[in-house]
Amino acid sequence: MAELLEVENLSAGYGEAVVLDGISLALGEGRTLALLGRNGTGKTTFIDTLAGATRQHGGSIRLGGQRIDGLASHLRAAAGIGWVPQERNIFKSLTVHENLTAVARPGAWTPARAYEMFPRLAERKGNLGTQLSGGEQQMLAVARALVVNPRLLLLDEPLEGLAPIIVEELLRAIRRITQGEGLAAIIVEQHPQAILAISDEAVVLDHGTIVHRDAAATLASQPEVLDRLLGVAR
Ligand SMILES: Nc1ncnc2c1ncn2[C@@H]1O[C@H](COP(=O)(O)OP(=O)(O)OP(=O)(O)O)[C@@H](O)[C@H]1O
Ligand SMILES: [Mg+2]
Repeated sequence: MAELLEVENLSAGYGEAVVLDGISLALGEGRTLALLGRNGTGKTTFIDTLAGATRQHGGSIRLGGQRIDGLASHLRAAAGIGWVPQERNIFKSLTVHENLTAVARPGAWTPARAYEMFPRLAERKGNLGTQLSGGEQQMLAVARALVVNPRLLLLDEPLEGLAPIIVEELLRAIRRITQGEGLAAIIVEQHPQAILAISDEAVVLDHGTIVHRDAAATLASQPEVLDRLLGVAR
């Protein structure tokens, strides 16, 4: 079966600087990939390169068999890339509901379904982006990516800086979206166990290259490998 995402020999960075070098990976329909690595190893650069927000120096990116790496960012969204950047960039001066309706495209994920997934957002429909907590902003960022009806969801450290109770709530929603609804996803995390538990596959980056890949469950059961690669045992 053809893969949903095929990345071949990708190199990318900022201006003349090369951050990612020779990245190749594939992800099948409905699969979830945990993208791990210490600070500054190139995780965000990889996600942003898929989304079209860095300078690509070489290699190719295919989604559903079609080259997308020549496309501008908004055309990649139209092609099926749902991107939740590390800095969450929601529209702060719009309400929750306006954030969703501004970008919604026809498909199974309507704003109403996004509210079912995130009841907290339904309660705050009329609130401006500036009036949301960090956790609510993150939920809105995920909901906004969903209503575009992507084929592949890219989540860059979705749990970063959130209180434990919100982490639990968001993890449950992400698990429902990826495992329950079968949406393919790449999830970046530095604290891997929670994400490995809901992922099928795992890749570890270091200095802009892939230094380890395995089934998520296998990596999760190897604390000594996690410690060596990430400096964390759990
Ligand atoms: N806009 C930029 N311009 C130039 N260099 C950048 C830019 N953004 C990141 N870099 C560099 O690219 C490298 C990888 O950064 P990147 O943000 O991809 O790492 P990361 O793995 O996401 O880190 P973190 O875990 O801290 O989010 C770093 O050396 C960083 O300094
Ligand atoms: Mg990052």
